[in-house]
Amino acid sequence: MRGRGLRVPRSRGEELRLRLLATAQLRRDLEILREGEYLVLPLAGEAPLSADWGETVWREFPSVHPPPPSDYRELLDWTPEAKADLPRSFDIVGDIVLVRLPDSLEPRKEEVGAALLSFVPSARIVGLDRGVHGPERRRHVERIAGSGGWSTRHRENGLELDVDIERAYFSPRLAHEHERVASEVRAGERVYDLCCGVGPFALTLARDGRASRITAVDSNPAAVSLLRATQARYAWGTRIEVVEAPIERFLSHAVAVERVILNLPHEGIKYLPSVAPTLAPRGRLHYYEVTPRAEFERRAEGVVGALGTGEWTLVERHRVHPYSPTSDLVAFVLERLEL
Ligand SMILES: C[S@@+](CC[C@H](N)C(=O)[O-])C[C@H]1O[C@@H](n2cnc3c(N)ncnc32)[C@H](O)[C@@H]1O
Repeated sequence: MRGRGLRVPRSRGEELRLRLLATAQLRRDLEILREGEYLVLPLAGEAPLSADWGETVWREFPSVHPPPPSDYRELLDWTPEAKADLPRSFDIVGDIVLVRLPDSLEPRKEEVGAALLSFVPSARIVGLDRGVHGPERRRHVERIAGSGGWSTRHRENGLELDVDIERAYFSPRLAHEHERVASEVRAGERVYDLCCGVGPFALTLARDGRASRITAVDSNPAAVSLLRATQARYAWGTRIEVVEAPIERFLSHAVAVERVILNLPHEGIKYLPSVAPTLAPRGRLHYYEVTPRAEFERRAEGVVGALGTGEWTLVERHRVHPYSPTSDLVAFVLERLEL
């Protein structure tokens, strides 16, 4: 059957297959094609994928017999009315599946867990995701199927990250953003990754190798030790200086650098006056914030206002992913014009 496919390097095939599976964008009734060093993953639906997923192509795909379910909801023998509240997508972090459910499905959460456990081939445990909380953005999670703990290794952009779902923040929904920022780094830049968590930005930059110095800072000791564990598994890991400290302490003696990443979406704004002096002229700030959808166009002015010192220009801004029915996680890239 002729259909749309995503052409990706073999080395990233499994990682991207799981991301498509988790977002209900993989056709499982068609075979994956092998083309030399590339795979072509058959795509469900018409939704366009951004170029950073891979190249979208059209191909003739053989059918799989008998076709496996393309959606975990097919594994639940529920009435259509009961199924209406089920989420279409979920998250996969290593061998952990995370799903958010409305309160109405609380009594049936174990059934949903069992369906997801059998739907995702690599799944070991399924957790009910009750959101991230507190300054360290730790995830509250409840086991609804499978066994074992919440630590795992997650593949992202060809890297294998040490992660612990409960002890330190990590979201698989930021993979494109980690890659996007790393691709913008120019040779010789010094970079601060503030509020680095388990270090996906810093690690992607270090792997690429263009930055001359990368400093990653977080106050959560668990996040720092997970970052150090990943760092120790790669020869290029030594390119990152890992600092366990509150950023307010770090910023008080930080020298100016060419690029700063600040991903603390609910509270980051209060640190901008201290972040501003750490950007050299022409230096760029990648600032992340949860922004009400209605304010997307005018919010940059408020961000520049919060930076206070210096003259700034908005290089670009984009929505990273929806955060709630009325807000998005938004990335702002600002350049310092002069001191
Ligand atoms: C949303 S997470 C971002 C993680 C990471 N940048 C990523 O992309 O996966 C925010 C992180 O900020 C850290 N954090 C919160 N307040 C902090 C502070 N005052 N100083 C240093 N780190 C802080 C938390 O521990 C958490 O790891």
